[in-house]
Amino acid sequence: MERVFSGIQPTGALHIGNWLGALRNWIALSERHECVYSIVDLHALTPSPPPSAEEMRRRVREVAVTLLACGLDTSRCTLFVQSEVPEHAELAWVLGCQAAMGDLQRMTQFKEKSEQAREIVGLGIFAYPVLQAADILLYKATRVPVGEDQVQHLELAREIARRFNRIYGATFPEPEPILSPTPRVFGLDGVRKMSKSLGNEIGLLEPAESVKARLAGAMTDPARKRRTDPGDPAKCNVFTWHGYFTPAAEREECAKGCRTAAIGCLDCKEVLRTHLEKVLAPMRERAAALLAEPAAVERALRAGAEKARAIARATMEEVRHRIGVR
Ligand code: TYM
Repeated sequence: MERVFSGIQPTGALHIGNWLGALRNWIALSERHECVYSIVDLHALTPSPPPSAEEMRRRVREVAVTLLACGLDTSRCTLFVQSEVPEHAELAWVLGCQAAMGDLQRMTQFKEKSEQAREIVGLGIFAYPVLQAADILLYKATRVPVGEDQVQHLELAREIARRFNRIYGATFPEPEPILSPTPRVFGLDGVRKMSKSLGNEIGLLEPAESVKARLAGAMTDPARKRRTDPGDPAKCNVFTWHGYFTPAAEREECAKGCRTAAIGCLDCKEVLRTHLEKVLAPMRERAAALLAEPAAVERALRAGAEKARAIARATMEEVRHRIGVR
């Protein structure tokens, strides 16, 4: 059976971009494949300055609760926190010795993130994709559900696997991305990828009132200045979001209303909000129940780490043997 691996950073509250781009696939795949999913806290140490220890612990708990609230079922997959399996960092060192500096320098995310660094551009942000390659290869995963922004990192993981295999003999399969139908979700600003660090996101656990307020400020067709102007749905990011949440007939009605100025942007957003709420409200409810049971969430993560460690140990033993270290 093919093994699936994916990871998510505990950088803050998860948003609908994470869900549409990756998490929906995580859940769907766990019904058919052996899936290993990780909350990658070691990756989340890379911003400069890094989060405080207390903040890190809080975010990891929040991400775990959100994943479970989205419908991830830990009886059908392995969910664990990366730092509970020390082999990730160990394999990252070994693979780092086979990763070309030139390749790492070309990574778009490295360029973006090093611009955001406020104190130093650390080695961690440079070596980030090597740790990501280690995450995947440690489980010999062949399929990796991600959004489009991670495809370049996966190409590098394949390159590192190939190089390792050439030098030391066939050890790792080459992992392939699995993209969702919505691999790149734009944010409230309508121009950039939805991202917590850009502040243009709608959080999966955000209160209904806050979702409403944020949607009200979302960018629509920039050419539609007044309520009486006709708009063009093809140029409207909110209309793209309708495509994710609103049934076709109602969506078509909105498009017609927009083109003829029969409805305003706020009316259109209200229709979207109703359908978005059908997805978010049950998540909020499940999250509230999970937050009341922190010990159960903790138990699920511990059990996940146990399962992940068994696979990770076996791979590292093989790797040590192949490279000749004890
Ligand atoms: P991260 O934590 O930024 O995002 C988690 C997942 O959500 C996807 N995603 C999006 N998809 C569509 N539209 C968006 N606006 C959007 N924003 C985020 C991401 O593509 C990702 O799939 N480096 C990874 C974490 C990682 C990982 C791994 C992933 C570490 N090790 C091993 C796969 C395999 C990251 O930062 O994702």
